[in-house]
Amino acid sequence: NLKIAVIGGGSSYTPELIEGFIKRYNELPVKDLYLVDIEEGKEKLEIVGGLAKRMVEKAGVGINIHLTLDRREAIKDADFVVTQFRVGGMDARIRDEKIPLKYDVIGQETTGPGGFAKAQRTIPVILDICKDVEELAPNAWLINFTNPSGVITETILKYTNVKAIGLCNVPIGMVYGVAKMLEVDPKRVYIDFAGLNHLVWGTHIYLDGEDITEKLIDSFAGGKSLSMKNIPELPWDPDFIKSLGMYPCPYHRYYYLTDKMLEKQKEEAATVGTRGEVVKKLEQELFELYKDPNLNIKPPQLEKRGGAYYSDAACSLICSIYNDKKDIHVVNVRNNGTIADLPDDVVIETNAIIDRNGAHPINIGHVPAKIRGLMQAVKAYEELTIEAGVKGDYYTALQALTIHPLIPSATVAKKILDDILEQNKEYLPQY
Ligand code: NAD
Ligand code: G6P
Ligand code: MN
Ligand code: MN
Repeated sequence: NLKIAVIGGGSSYTPELIEGFIKRYNELPVKDLYLVDIEEGKEKLEIVGGLAKRMVEKAGVGINIHLTLDRREAIKDADFVVTQFRVGGMDARIRDEKIPLKYDVIGQETTGPGGFAKAQRTIPVILDICKDVEELAPNAWLINFTNPSGVITETILKYTNVKAIGLCNVPIGMVYGVAKMLEVDPKRVYIDFAGLNHLVWGTHIYLDGEDITEKLIDSFAGGKSLSMKNIPELPWDPDFIKSLGMYPCPYHRYYYLTDKMLEKQKEEAATVGTRGEVVKKLEQELFELYKDPNLNIKPPQLEKRGGAYYSDAACSLICSIYNDKKDIHVVNVRNNGTIADLPDDVVIETNAIIDRNGAHPINIGHVPAKIRGLMQAVKAYEELTIEAGVKGDYYTALQALTIHPLIPSATVAKKILDDILEQNKEYLPQY
């Protein structure tokens, strides 16, 4: 009797997930699917839950959808717990995006100070959820989507006994992007990934097993650029791409094209609004659609969100664990020596073999110097962000922000930190 609990069930992405479970019902016969939310999300939960129920009814599959505000009821004896919640909601995200911009620093929900703030709000909640999982479903797998996904997954693995795997749709998006460029079925494309969540490089690209990295790098250098709905698609410099010799993820633009991205963000903030402000409106439109009692499929408008292929990543991962498939997924997993240039106990994003015992990353060894420094610096920032988030320690937080490559000085780091702590007071019980 397969039971799945989704924490943050009122998310507008939930129909994606439902579609994924419906598609795989033969291999993954979910009996009970609990969508959990909090009081503030009750209305969203009811609307999206209504659509979810119509979707399974239309598909004729035997999934029972339960809507609840009782997290413990949902977690009890679950086989999988999927976490996709947003502490503080979209308004907190918008503040995360706006605070850094005041100090001429990239304002992004997962990268830089915005991601730091989101982590500080999320860490107390995820630790609380994990206590419930330890007590009520000690054998469950926790599949984490909550951003910053790598940081939150590392927090779970360092501070709890919960079995967790972190996910992001960026790697699968990069595979699909290459497939589209080559006009081939994505199944024929394989990419070796190395790095961190939202800081992952495609180090080798294969078509039908043949290494086509160089050829593809040439076409990226020739102006082809792949991005996602939530990241401005600024073109890469051809010489830069050739010198890198790898496929950078869309989020790398914040590091490699910082000046132009900052300019773009400021321009957007002053016109259409930050990404969070755009998404807030988009979400209202989506929920209006979801209310329609005749709607019983995932509406195509959801594709305007950045989370494309989200359900493919999540549902196929769950399916591989459940069916002991031993196939390869790109996940956030404990390093354990996979990347020789990082500590063992940190989380990395890479290719791993998935079976019923979890994710077994495929060895990488050392990475080239041109990506090593940035990766190590951001990982050190992440380690300090986690420590600060767990302990509520101001000095650790100040070091985290100061060493972040996108923050120019200790002076600016301190100003941003004080602003973040002030504006997030109600969500930071640990400080
Ligand atoms: P959202 O604002 O719609 O949040 C989803 C739900 O979480 C809301 O209904 C909200 O009420 C609920 N929630 C808030 N605090 C909660 C708590 N303590 N317990 C239970 N539920 C709670 O956000 P969204 O846009 O759907 O995104 C949800 C999360 O998923 C975010 O953290 C986002 O960054 C992340 N996300 C990650 C990826 C990825 O690639 N890893 C992709 C898409 C979204
Ligand atoms: C991508 C990232 C996610 C992020 C999302 C934001 O999919 O991988 O981690 O949450 O974009 O999309 P949004 O539509 O909320 O801006
Ligand atoms: Mn992501
Ligand atoms: Mn090579």
